[in-house]
Amino acid sequence: MQEANNHTAKRGTFSSGFGVLAATLGSAVGLGNIWKFPYLTGANGGAGFLLIYLLATLVIGLPVMMAELAVGRQARSNPITALQKLAPKGQPWWLIGAAGMIAAFLILSFYSEVVAWVFAYVFKAIGGSILSNDPHVTEAAFNAMIGDPVQSLLWQWGVLIFIGGILLLGVTKGIEALAKKLMPLLFLLLLVLCAVSLSLDKASEGLAFLFNPDFSKITSSAILTAMGLAFFKLSLGMGAMLTYGSYFRDDQNIPMTTVRVMAADLCVSMLAGMAIFPAVFTFGFAPAAGPALVFITIPAVFSQIPMGQLLMVAFFVLAAIAATGAMLSLTEVPVVILHERLNIPRRRATMLTILSLALLGSTCALTNNVLANFKLFGLNMFDLYDFISSNVILPAGGILLAVFVGWVWGKEKFGHALSNQGKLNNPTVTRAAFFLLRYVSPVLTLLVMLKGLNLL
Ligand code: TRP
Repeated sequence: MQEANNHTAKRGTFSSGFGVLAATLGSAVGLGNIWKFPYLTGANGGAGFLLIYLLATLVIGLPVMMAELAVGRQARSNPITALQKLAPKGQPWWLIGAAGMIAAFLILSFYSEVVAWVFAYVFKAIGGSILSNDPHVTEAAFNAMIGDPVQSLLWQWGVLIFIGGILLLGVTKGIEALAKKLMPLLFLLLLVLCAVSLSLDKASEGLAFLFNPDFSKITSSAILTAMGLAFFKLSLGMGAMLTYGSYFRDDQNIPMTTVRVMAADLCVSMLAGMAIFPAVFTFGFAPAAGPALVFITIPAVFSQIPMGQLLMVAFFVLAAIAATGAMLSLTEVPVVILHERLNIPRRRATMLTILSLALLGSTCALTNNVLANFKLFGLNMFDLYDFISSNVILPAGGILLAVFVGWVWGKEKFGHALSNQGKLNNPTVTRAAFFLLRYVSPVLTLLVMLKGLNLL
């Protein structure tokens, strides 16, 4: 018991306002923007998908993010304990935290493999073999990499060891310091990339694909995917933002932080989209290429500019860093749960998490080679973990959290938390967020989920 109290007393906090923003943004911005957003938009017909994604972000993402941050800061503990603290005795809301831990493992399993591809591409970019605007060349390079089980496994384990190392340094030094320095650089490089791509021959076709909706392509499963992406993008539904909220200072403005993170995150996704689709149409790639899309088109864009190879190395380094910030926030959830719930020292909790991930994650590293024909419910392990986490657990976690705040925690306590105990004068924001959480977000999320899963 003594020990447990010590943990709470010694919890880290983010030290500065900018640091909070950078770390929270660091969690949101990641391969979701650079890899997942473009490939899902491409596979689901472009602008219509984008529109639904935007709607989901505003109506569901924004209020749920405020709810997670507020609950986290109020309780100042890991997701499971936080919900136990704030819920009436005996009600099992803490299960949201437990489900979140499962989601964290599933997401990290495939995410770490994509980060592994990014790390590997840093070295391939240095070697120069992938720099080409010929789809056959860039596709062959990508397929050769993911088809090799030994390479895939080793890169993934390397990534996991790297992440474990940063987490051992602790919250302020590890997560905050890295995020603060490097996020702006990524933004800058994407801007350059975008400018290059927009000057290509068929740039307008790419832009039309991204911005002119074709409503015939919007199916219920596309809508579920767009909503799942909104959760995934803002790191919602599994306690990652809740955990970061628990490190927020008391004077941090939660609604303002949420809006800024969402806006910046959206900018990064849009820049990635505008860097990729003009090139897709100019060089004859398939927009629906799937998870390979970024890895095969980005080299083509770089092949068009002087010093392209050097800049491509920089791009993959920065993508690796953005992915690292996101991975840290995911890994932090099981680590802090093991540490605070089971009284396992933080170091050992980190190592345990990393080790389990090396095991579970290897099923994703082997998905494109040894296990290529192994499927459950018609999906390989990589896609299955992605589907279950993004399209089932995260939305379900979001629904339950919204219901918890809207119907159990209540307007007064939520408003108190969002206004920093009355110090901020933001009753309209609070009222709007509460209304959405109580009536709109959970119902909408549930409908989309049931329809998308063919249960309705
Ligand atoms: N948002 C991150 C991205 O876009 C991924 C991520 C980090 C995440 N933490 C999360 C997704 C928690 C879901 C839940 O790359």
